[in-house]
Amino acid sequence: MRVLSGIQPTGNLHLGNYLGAIRNWVKMQDEMDVATDSGSACFFFLADLHSITVHEERDTRIRNVREMAAALIACGIDPDRSVLFNQARVPAHAELAWLLNGTARIGWLNRMTQFKDKAGKNREGASVGLFVYPVLQAADVLLYQATHVPVGEDQKQHLELTRDIAVKFNTDFGVELFTLPEPYIPKESARIMGLRDGSAKMSKSDPSDMSRINLTDDDDTITQKVRKAKSDQEMLPEQAADLAGRPEALNLVGIYATLTEQTPDAVCGQFAGQGFGAFKPALAEVLVETLRPIRERFIALKDDDAALDALLVKGAQKARAVAQPTLDGAYAALGLLR
Ligand code: TYM
Repeated sequence: MRVLSGIQPTGNLHLGNYLGAIRNWVKMQDEMDVATDSGSACFFFLADLHSITVHEERDTRIRNVREMAAALIACGIDPDRSVLFNQARVPAHAELAWLLNGTARIGWLNRMTQFKDKAGKNREGASVGLFVYPVLQAADVLLYQATHVPVGEDQKQHLELTRDIAVKFNTDFGVELFTLPEPYIPKESARIMGLRDGSAKMSKSDPSDMSRINLTDDDDTITQKVRKAKSDQEMLPEQAADLAGRPEALNLVGIYATLTEQTPDAVCGQFAGQGFGAFKPALAEVLVETLRPIRERFIALKDDDAALDALLVKGAQKARAVAQPTLDGAYAALGLLR
């Protein structure tokens, strides 16, 4: 079993990233550690090569990579037990992505909904990088022979593409080089929605900061965002199934359930017959208590550039060693002599 996942170091980590992905990374790290007693089973990285599809100033990008590393450690990723690195320090990602461009089909990439969402109406003006972004993502996963990839629902299609690329490459060149990865997407936290609109996922690109809870928000800001979150006038039902047609209510109950490790049914059972006037303060309290220690650790870590760079360099060394045999195998299968 090999766990691998990545996150773009653009802007703040928000509650959607945390509940949808990072919390599961930490759980898997902790479980794997017990199961294998080995420090190299989980690979987590900052997708800085992917981040070039969003325009950023040089200094901002440098800062974002360090801050996202600090944020992941604050959330519980332990660089001594997991391999934590940034893609740019492991050239094999870019190299394998190029090799896989010979296998990926334009028709497959044309079906990627994230490209359509991100490119919007101005498709001709989108960068080539944005279009081939999923091929780099496939390289990220296949390089390490990852078996389990913990992500939010929005990454599912990219992982299906990764499997298609792996199967076609293995078949076309008659090799068993790439392992087929499984996405790991727990149902309750697969898609955390924004606080202002229960039909749009929580995202760092939403122009309204009130739509998301950032891991850097202080206690008052969190409480205020929950108080102002869109909800409805109805009471909470006995069972979560009766929340159908109430997307905002369903989202808030889902967030509470995930944070307290209960089912949405159990949360409904607890608050049945009460309105959001009672539920929101309870939700705000759980959020504040969960996020405060993470924020405090983050603040303590984020400005130590030398320490953050040093651990990313060390992580990249380990990652390079694991990635190399797969990259060599891909060159060899293609008949590219070096
Ligand atoms: P990114 O940086 O957009 O998001 C990081 C992780 O957070 C999850 N996520 C969510 N989960 C639930 N609800 C939400 N509202 C929400 N918003 C974000 C994402 O699903 C993701 O798991 N392309 C990837 C990064 C990447 C990657 C990879 C992931 C690059 N290579 C290889 C896995 C394997 C991305 O942009 O995630």
